[in-house]
Amino acid sequence: MFWESSCNSPNLLNGDNMSVIEIKNLTKRFKVEGNTVVALDGIDLSIEKGDIYGIIGMSGAGKSTLVRTINYLEKPTEGSVHIDGVDLSGLKERQLRKMRSQIGMIFQGFNLLEQRNVIGNICFPLEISGWSRKKAKERARELLSLVNLEDKEKAYPSQLSGGQKQRVAIARALATNPRILLCDEATSALDPQTTTSIINLLREINEKLGITIVIITHQMSVITDVCQKVAIIDSGKLVESGIVEDIFAKPKSDAAKELISGKDIRYIPVKTLEADKTIRIVFKENSAYEPVLANAILKLGQPINILKADTKNVGGKAVGEMILGLPEDEEVASRLIAYLKEAGLVVTDGVKGGEIA
Ligand SMILES: Nc1ncnc2c1ncn2[C@@H]1O[C@H](COP(=O)(O)OP(=O)(O)OP(=O)(O)O)[C@@H](O)[C@H]1O
Ligand SMILES: [Mg+2]
Repeated sequence: MFWESSCNSPNLLNGDNMSVIEIKNLTKRFKVEGNTVVALDGIDLSIEKGDIYGIIGMSGAGKSTLVRTINYLEKPTEGSVHIDGVDLSGLKERQLRKMRSQIGMIFQGFNLLEQRNVIGNICFPLEISGWSRKKAKERARELLSLVNLEDKEKAYPSQLSGGQKQRVAIARALATNPRILLCDEATSALDPQTTTSIINLLREINEKLGITIVIITHQMSVITDVCQKVAIIDSGKLVESGIVEDIFAKPKSDAAKELISGKDIRYIPVKTLEADKTIRIVFKENSAYEPVLANAILKLGQPINILKADTKNVGGKAVGEMILGLPEDEEVASRLIAYLKEAGLVVTDGVKGGEIA
């Protein structure tokens, strides 16, 4: 089995209790046509063994640069990266390559070799590490079973769906038995359902293999679905980090507040809806609420503020009640009431009860 062979593999790295990844004052500046771009600005971050650590930030915040400096694909301008206590700046190129075989990476975009089939892609890093063809194929098949793609061994990347390509990329990243898996936007090109299956696979890899996973994303839902800890990067700076629940409950930085409440509909906190005047409408078996409300919005040319809804779907009809906020404009408010009554609904005062004339 895959996990047995991974346990027996020799490790360059050592030490179990310290941070697996220790980043100190990491700064990366790029020179572009005489100008300096500060992609990372004094980042301090500790990632512990077995963590699923999320790094989130807006586009251009520096996430990909950060993940590429973690394995020294990009050399920092200042600061240091320690992997299991080993300072990467002290390693020669050959030692760095060996160390990188302990750090699997999934790149933004799938980055598969188009001219190689699935098994050829997974064997590629093994061939580079000097594995025999036979052993590499055996190992690749173990990985194909882990990512549930046994039947796609001979397929070429162009014949795979996005989710399947990502599974191949994950299998390839795990080929050399890494202790760390870095995922740069592993799900941003996938639909929500496929995203969930990839997230579940990453969770399984973390639990079964004990691999520390760093997930770079701009999707807040990915962080809350799978990560225990999160760091928020804004314009190259780490502005907040900690346990996901804590940051969600009390985001301190503007970037965290924006990421939590801004983009991802699933995580918009329910606003306290308020209105000066409210009405209660009751739906009976013969009134379907969707057309009623949709038509009311069209008729009035204004959104309707639903403060509370307690409806059940009985055979395709809505039964129950809703509390609506009345529009401030009295003329619009009375047109709304008239329309709802016309549609056969019982309309009462939202606070006092009692039918509205
Ligand atoms: N090789 C490079 N040369 C010059 N500038 C670069 C280079 N790589 C990144 N940058 C700049 O560094 C900043 C951070 O880029 P990075 O790719 O790390 O952002 P990101 O957070 O991954 O964004 P996205 O969510 O769009 O992938 C950007 O301003 C980018 O233009
Ligand atoms: Mg990026």
